[in-house]
Amino acid sequence: MQRSGRTIECAKVTNELLGKEITLVGWVNRRRDHGGLIFIDLRDRSGIMQLVFNPDFNQDAHKQAQAIRSEDVIQVVGTVVKRSVETINKDLKTGEFELQVHKLNILNKSKPLPFMLEDADQVDEELRLKYRYLDMRRPEMQERFALRNKITFAMREFLVKLGFYEMETPILTKNSPEGAREFIVPSRVHQGSFYALPQSPQLYKQLLMASGFEAYFQIARCFRDEDLRADRQPEFTQLDIEMSFINEDDIQRVTEQLIAHIWKIGFNIDLQLPFERMTYDKAFSTYGSDKPDLRFNLPIHDISSLFAQTELKFLRAVLDNNEKIGALAVHNHEFARSELDGMVGRAQELGAKGLLWIRFKDGKPDSPVSKFLPDNFLEQLQKIIPEAGPKTTLFIVAGPYDEAWTTLGRLRLLLGEDLKLINHNAYKFLWVTDFPLFEYDKESKQWNAVHHPFTSPQAGWENMNQKDIKARAYDVVLNGIELGGGSIRIHDHDMQDRVFDLLGLDKETANKKFGFLLEAQTLGFPPHGGIALGLDRLIMLMTKSKSIREVIAFPKTARGYDPLMVCPTEVDDVQLREYGLKLLPGKKK
Ligand code: AMO
Repeated sequence: MQRSGRTIECAKVTNELLGKEITLVGWVNRRRDHGGLIFIDLRDRSGIMQLVFNPDFNQDAHKQAQAIRSEDVIQVVGTVVKRSVETINKDLKTGEFELQVHKLNILNKSKPLPFMLEDADQVDEELRLKYRYLDMRRPEMQERFALRNKITFAMREFLVKLGFYEMETPILTKNSPEGAREFIVPSRVHQGSFYALPQSPQLYKQLLMASGFEAYFQIARCFRDEDLRADRQPEFTQLDIEMSFINEDDIQRVTEQLIAHIWKIGFNIDLQLPFERMTYDKAFSTYGSDKPDLRFNLPIHDISSLFAQTELKFLRAVLDNNEKIGALAVHNHEFARSELDGMVGRAQELGAKGLLWIRFKDGKPDSPVSKFLPDNFLEQLQKIIPEAGPKTTLFIVAGPYDEAWTTLGRLRLLLGEDLKLINHNAYKFLWVTDFPLFEYDKESKQWNAVHHPFTSPQAGWENMNQKDIKARAYDVVLNGIELGGGSIRIHDHDMQDRVFDLLGLDKETANKKFGFLLEAQTLGFPPHGGIALGLDRLIMLMTKSKSIREVIAFPKTARGYDPLMVCPTEVDDVQLREYGLKLLPGKKK
């Protein structure tokens, strides 16, 4: 790109420019004063070029260079020369060259930075976020955003070529049905009324199908006021897709091909298609999760039958209650007694009420409950886990199926890391399918939609109980992280009515909340479905970053705070009054 301030980017200096006079601009990455000669590593977005200031060559420039400090922004004019053989830097793209400077123009002086850029990884994250613009000068951050840019461009190109339209949908809107708490925005004009920020463009994209656009996508901003974690932000970006006249396979195929395209563009890796598929029931019973990490095996075994006759009180109670006993079996690894005891505490931190371990000594069970176990326990165990042997250790959690298996799923991940079972260079994609349509909320004693209330049930649902109905919904998982999810939607008004009935949503409430969509369902609504991929999570996984904050230019802290802009902020009474609002006493800082 031609720019009047410079001839070329720093890292693009090559042999062709040898002996030529060029202008470079950038930040002072490092300055070394060798008495006679001053060397500066000049940095721009492309990388680094070494500058040399030689008093014999130009006295003024050399003198000025003495006052240069790290992170000053400068413009230099000089001649490209070859470095002597012994000073060639093989780690730099431009390591064979240097610029003999004869003119230096200081564009901006920098005070010492609040932290050294090369130490940013050790600096408190809040400080990094307060000075995010400095943090992002670091080459590793620049690389992450270069990849993000490359990938979003590739997504757009891929989808537009397939006939998708990129369309925007409103940010000031009404609540959407994604299930998280939403951010609300007071209206000044309609006092007492509020907009909601969209948790996703879900309802709009369905309406775009009603408009006849057939294939839509959007790189969409979404807002959810939920508890934050490493892979969650209050505002995040989705690649949102919707298509008409399709079934699950069509959406999954487009998504897989899109991901394969991205991996080719990003890493020159050919992913194997189609991705593996697993039902939700199988994923949960084998891995205790709806997003299993398949980079390692370590499945959960149901060993309830081994204890059918047990006199162990707590296991007896579990079985009498129709609950389950599950186990992870680690083979050929010897745990120290202290490790095993430590595991109990760690399992409790993961939500377990308790953890029982059993290992073998001379073929006999060795465990805090040994005396309740038969001598031939190993033999019995082998009927369920044929690979079990004298060097097997069992980690057992007992209780209600959902709870026990969820804990075992978490313990599995912990053991996977501890025992170094995870290949951190592998990409294990998986479709999880056949989710339940509803889940029961014990607190409110209500059935809720697992995805959202417009998700279509699978055939045969009409005569089933809520707990047995499966959804036409699917998630795509990568290395144990949910990358995206979607479903085939309900387009039939009667089906929608009946699903609302099963959710306990009366007509009046349904109409108040989603009347516009229910009406659209009666005005020529095509069959349709879609998916949304979490863009931040995708880039986090592609760059092997620890959290999605590393791939978002200006993220919030884990407490939803922005230390750079210092927000959220208070609003004064005058402004509140404009909105017809008043804070409750004690709610003001
Ligand atoms: P869902 O709620 O599963 O589906 O979201 C899709 C994907 O968005 C990402 N994601 C998040 N990323 C960062 N921070 C968050 N707080 C966050 N929440 C979700 C995840 C997730 O898999 N409208 C449906 C999609 C559809 O049915 O088409 C939806 O939003 O990667």
